[in-house]
Amino acid sequence: PKNVGILAMEIYFPRTCVQQEALETYDGASKGKYTIGLGQDCMAFCTEVEDVISMSLTAVASLLEKYEIDPKQIGRLEVGSETVIDKSKSIKTFLMQIFEESGNTDIEGVDSTNACYGGTAALFNCINWVESSSWDGRYGLVVCTDNAVYAEGPARPTGGAAAIAMLVGPGAPIAFESKFRGSHMSHAYDFYKPNLASEYPVVDGKLSQTCYLGALDSCYIRFCDKFQKLEGKPFSISEADYFAFHSPYNKLVQKSFARLYFKDFLRDASLVDEAAREKLAPFSALSKDESYQSRDLEKATQQVAKHLYDAKVQPTTLLPKQVGNMYTASLYAAFASLLHNKHDSLAGKRVIMFSYGSGLTATMFSFQLQNGQHPFSLLNIAMVMNVSGKLKSRLEFPPEKFVETLKLMEHRYGSKDFVTSKDCSLLASGTYYLTEVDSMYRRFYAKK
Ligand code: ACO
Repeated sequence: PKNVGILAMEIYFPRTCVQQEALETYDGASKGKYTIGLGQDCMAFCTEVEDVISMSLTAVASLLEKYEIDPKQIGRLEVGSETVIDKSKSIKTFLMQIFEESGNTDIEGVDSTNACYGGTAALFNCINWVESSSWDGRYGLVVCTDNAVYAEGPARPTGGAAAIAMLVGPGAPIAFESKFRGSHMSHAYDFYKPNLASEYPVVDGKLSQTCYLGALDSCYIRFCDKFQKLEGKPFSISEADYFAFHSPYNKLVQKSFARLYFKDFLRDASLVDEAAREKLAPFSALSKDESYQSRDLEKATQQVAKHLYDAKVQPTTLLPKQVGNMYTASLYAAFASLLHNKHDSLAGKRVIMFSYGSGLTATMFSFQLQNGQHPFSLLNIAMVMNVSGKLKSRLEFPPEKFVETLKLMEHRYGSKDFVTSKDCSLLASGTYYLTEVDSMYRRFYAKK
């Protein structure tokens, strides 16, 4: 099969959200810390009637309906998530309710978990399946779903929540350039969830940032090597039109792109002009570790790469800034932002994707875009996702309400024998929601 990749996408995020500016004031943080310092505008969160299962049910049902896909046409369903609701039963099996109704239980795949990387692992599984000898001609379906919540403290404003569903098959407008992948995986304790009684991670934010940038460096060099071997010319930022990054918070994305520019400078890439070379020359002798710590280097590279950031990265930042960290869905929400902003001018463009999951696992890979044919066209994908409509219909909560909701969810996490308020008045029609967890911990959902 040719041009295997993403045929269709749908995104869902809770309408309930809190403004970062309001949260700043409420938390007593200095003005601008969350909005400029972290680069975040707003954060979506789940109320007691939503969770990773309901969000993924909503995204999958909506994708099948809007692209008119018969559930029988799905042959593989893979879920990426790091939000553990059950240590054995996969989220995928909850989604089977949608397919069982149509009589289709012949669907391979389960959940993949490693922090924010699970969605990428799930996507690769589906792509590999379609490219393999066990492919039966049907579609693959990938779902990334996460609820990012942190304990009170500096990491709390870096939460978020969303689910993204992606249909995989041949002849895709968003085609994988599978040969150019570069990965970096190693053992680190930068962000992890050892406390099984809590939904909150243990996070070492500063270490996490260094791990992320180190993984980015390694992946980029490997990606460049493969590109050069296969294409017979060096890779640099100028070979790609857009860059989408996993986005724990936007500031890290700004730093990441600047880092790639610095790498290009060190690799003597021609896109780095004379003026930029002069500005960066004082940093060329820094050791790797020193280069991660240097504020001056960060500032200098962000400054000289700003015009490229604005052109190649900024169009991918809308949803991650507005919704927050969506963990496994974050990178694909960045890509969805690009489709939203540029869908009519993407034919022939190359997009570099950087996926990072703490612990740690990371891959850089690339897409080649074509307009495609209805319903699997970039235009239709942008229409179906309706990003601006979804952002406009959001409901802003005051920080007090947000904090109150998180308290209730702390109490509910891992518990049984409760019914929710069943209040779905805040949900858009077609949204799935949690109604009850019975005395056997069985979860029940309804659709509005
Ligand atoms: N105006 C403008 N900027 C400000 C202000 C202000 N008033 N106050 C602070 N800043 C800047 C700081 O200079 C800093 O920016 P810089 O890094 O460019 O210098 C930034 O805002 C953050 O300020 P810090 O003091 O460094 O913030 P703090 O240490 O309190 O927390 C952190 C930030 C570490 C990112 C925290 O939110 C965190 O741990 N988040 C979780 C990160 C995470 O999940 N990592 C895992 C990534 S992988 C995954 O997604 C699972």
